[in-house]
Amino acid sequence: MAPAPAIAVALLALACCWVAVTAADTAPIKWQRANATFYGGADASGTMGGACGYDNLYTAGYGTRTAALSTVLFNDGASCGQCYKIACDRKRADPAFCKPGVTVTITATNLCPPNDALPNDNGGWCNLPRPHFDMAQPAWEKIGVYKGGIIPVMYQRVPCVRKGGVRFRMVGHDYFNVVIVMNVAGAGSIKSMDIKSSDSNDWLSMSRNWGANWQSGSYLTGKMLSFRITITDGQTIEFNNVVTGGWKFGQTFASKLQFK
Ligand SMILES: *[C@@H]1O[C@H](CO)[C@@H](O)[C@H](O)[C@H]1NC(C)=O
Repeated sequence: MAPAPAIAVALLALACCWVAVTAADTAPIKWQRANATFYGGADASGTMGGACGYDNLYTAGYGTRTAALSTVLFNDGASCGQCYKIACDRKRADPAFCKPGVTVTITATNLCPPNDALPNDNGGWCNLPRPHFDMAQPAWEKIGVYKGGIIPVMYQRVPCVRKGGVRFRMVGHDYFNVVIVMNVAGAGSIKSMDIKSSDSNDWLSMSRNWGANWQSGSYLTGKMLSFRITITDGQTIEFNNVVTGGWKFGQTFASKLQFK
């Protein structure tokens, strides 16, 4: 016969762990409502470029899982690079146009501009104050049926998962260095950025010019450069000497470092 205390201990242990597991699994997930349309064609070719300045979304690391955000979500470009998990809102959708039970995660790469010539509920989807995702067509078709054109969705911010390190593209010109920061994991979006040339000990602060374009007004052409970046969740990484001496405008440099 098993001694009673042993059974009691076993039951207690079970009770403890069952409660712990349940609590973790049911941590509240904050889904919010929006609507979603698509653009850029079945091959997403029309989504290249865009208001974040990533240009070629394949080399930037984002592929066809991208979206243009309405003004209220775009936040003047501060949202560039952030990731959103999106699902069709089957409680509100026409079931014929909704693919329930699937989610797709996109990176914000563009602005869906307002169109004040069209009413908010008939074509002016990206007008204030509507939260709206104009998604690359291949991403949208994961959750919606082509003929529907527009679907109600639920979305939440999620950490970005990236392959490889952060990448830097050098654009602009002398005395106006502009650096496009791409393939950022974690929060995906940048809070602040500094630049340092190898012949100096001083970090110079950069400012957001537009989208993912960060600028500095110093003459740094051709010098070996380091960047220090803090992303919006507070993580900071120094990318020491990531840009090699003799660099030219238009070149891209890949770091081995990445945020978590
Ligand atoms: C989605 O679109 C419908 C139809 O225009 C509108 O009634 C609804 O408020 C929109 N949802 C959000 C969150 O803006």
